[in-house]
Amino acid sequence: MDIDWKTLGFQYMDTDYIVRCAFHGKWQNGELVGEWGEPYATKDKYLHLHVSATCLQYGQEAFEGLKAFRGVDGKIRIFRWQENAKRMQQSAIGLKMAPVPTELFGSAIRLALKKNLQFMPPYGTGATLYFRPLLIGTTPRLGVGPGADFEFIVIPSPVGPYYRGKFHCTTFIVNRHIDRAAQYGTGAFKVGGNYAASFRATEAAHLQGMDCIFLDSKSHTFIDECSAANFIGIRNGEYWTPKSLAILPSITNNSLMVLAKEMGLKIVRRHIRLRDVQDMTEAAACGTACVISPIDKIIDPDKGTTYTFGDGTPGPIMTRLYQRLQDIQYGRAEDKYNWCEVVEEK
Ligand SMILES: Cc1ncc(COP(=O)(O)O)c(C=O)c1O
Repeated sequence: MDIDWKTLGFQYMDTDYIVRCAFHGKWQNGELVGEWGEPYATKDKYLHLHVSATCLQYGQEAFEGLKAFRGVDGKIRIFRWQENAKRMQQSAIGLKMAPVPTELFGSAIRLALKKNLQFMPPYGTGATLYFRPLLIGTTPRLGVGPGADFEFIVIPSPVGPYYRGKFHCTTFIVNRHIDRAAQYGTGAFKVGGNYAASFRATEAAHLQGMDCIFLDSKSHTFIDECSAANFIGIRNGEYWTPKSLAILPSITNNSLMVLAKEMGLKIVRRHIRLRDVQDMTEAAACGTACVISPIDKIIDPDKGTTYTFGDGTPGPIMTRLYQRLQDIQYGRAEDKYNWCEVVEEK
């Protein structure tokens, strides 16, 4: 296997195995009763799926994203997978699906890793092994409603470093004309429909060389999400991040808040008006793919306003937070919060 780890992008690459596991059940008095089978590894990347499966007909599906890192000591660390398991359970409840038990989620990830060790990028390349857990409804249904059968799949793919070369800033553009998720909708769940709903806005921003900021759908006043990442801003020794029912609870953001607190910053979780960013000295998007993506400018085309942060290069606090979290992920710093599971390769 000859993979050029240094030129790998954030694209899907086939590995040897995926892991699958099925749930069969029935709805009884509003409760889903059934059982999960054993997870197994298979080389077949295609599903034999009924054309009327609820995932295809009604978008009954959820997914996750997490990474394994090859550390400086040669050990493999999976970062906070238990949090992804919990979040996928919330998404499952949100879409009337069978939640995947935490233990099953963990064993499926470990199995996917062990079966694909040759795809685990070496330390020093910036590449990682990304896992895409997927939960889909497989019951054929014509009447609108949830299914009772589900498939849990773990799809691994090695991915390249988010930053090829220098850690740099991105410009964001506000979109008030397309909402990602409604206030009491599914924005807090990681479900496919949210992403399909955001494509018009994110692709329009990409065409202009930017990323997109979504505001709250009710008043278009408060910051919700930065494309597929949470927003963070630094203001007078405070770490600001939005409080909203419609945003995904980011595991990276949660981790950065712990580290920011350690660094003496005060954590402020609140509704953040777009104009509040004018008092911020640094801003960034955060998520598994990038860890931190510093923002140099936010453009609000409807109001003709541009907010700028610093001198166009990543600010000192974002840079420190980025390095601090990566040091834990790559085993260069003590994992004092027990965020990483070290996996035995044998
Ligand atoms: C909409 C959205 N917000 C935020 C995040 C960041 O979440 P995490 O840090 O868990 O990757 C993601 C990525 O998963 C996302 O898709």
